[in-house]
Amino acid sequence: MEIRILEDKNAVAKAFASHFANIVRDQLSFNVALSGGSTPKVIFDLLADKYADTIDWSMIHFYWGDERCVPPTDDQSNYKMTKVHLLSKIDIPKDNIHRVLGENTPREEAKRYSDLLRTHLRQEDGIPRFDLVILGMGDDGHTASIFPHEIDLWSDAKSCVVATHPESGQKRVSITGNIINAAEEVIFLVTGDNKAEKVKDIHTKAEGYKQYPASLVNPESGQLTWFLDKAAASQIYKIN
Ligand code: 6PG
Repeated sequence: MEIRILEDKNAVAKAFASHFANIVRDQLSFNVALSGGSTPKVIFDLLADKYADTIDWSMIHFYWGDERCVPPTDDQSNYKMTKVHLLSKIDIPKDNIHRVLGENTPREEAKRYSDLLRTHLRQEDGIPRFDLVILGMGDDGHTASIFPHEIDLWSDAKSCVVATHPESGQKRVSITGNIINAAEEVIFLVTGDNKAEKVKDIHTKAEGYKQYPASLVNPESGQLTWFLDKAAASQIYKIN
């Protein structure tokens, strides 16, 4: 596991974009699960602005690690956020975009997306495997849409489950731990001082840290990198 601490969110965006461009170069096909929320916005903007013409987007397939159960036109939609900040600015075939249908019944969509992952991704030991899973982390230690109050969903045998946001009650479709930890590579993109305490708890294995789903990310491949800005890392890099 690698921790990369960058000056600020823009530096995280630059470092991630460069890493992403390197790992997709010369690939014949590349399946990546995207994170949602607000952190990716600046990262997707920079990826689109600086790499629109240097990355061969035709071999990249975008999926989502989680999606809110809202229509794709809703401001809460991770797909809409990605379309605004990335997809609308790059030349990528529509068939390469595999969105979670947030407008569907949550349980039916979790089943549909589980089946879609099984048919679209290579499988090893019966588990669909992404080339890359990008994750964010909430200030409560959740990742994808596996929240502490529903941490049992992490180890659900299904590839996708229906989760519930602890405050809003919003339903979400999320991939589970067996999909995340089967990925060839996992990258956390975490910025902001509101994440610093959980980053510290997880990276110092503080008492009770296992209650945070983000602490359970441990890909079999070993390729796990945390891209942090100094604000999110403020309680760990002073320690070292
Ligand atoms: C979502 C995300 C979620 C997100 C974290 C961090 O649908 O909200 O996938 O896991 O990555 O909540 O969100 P911010 O980037 O907004 O802090």
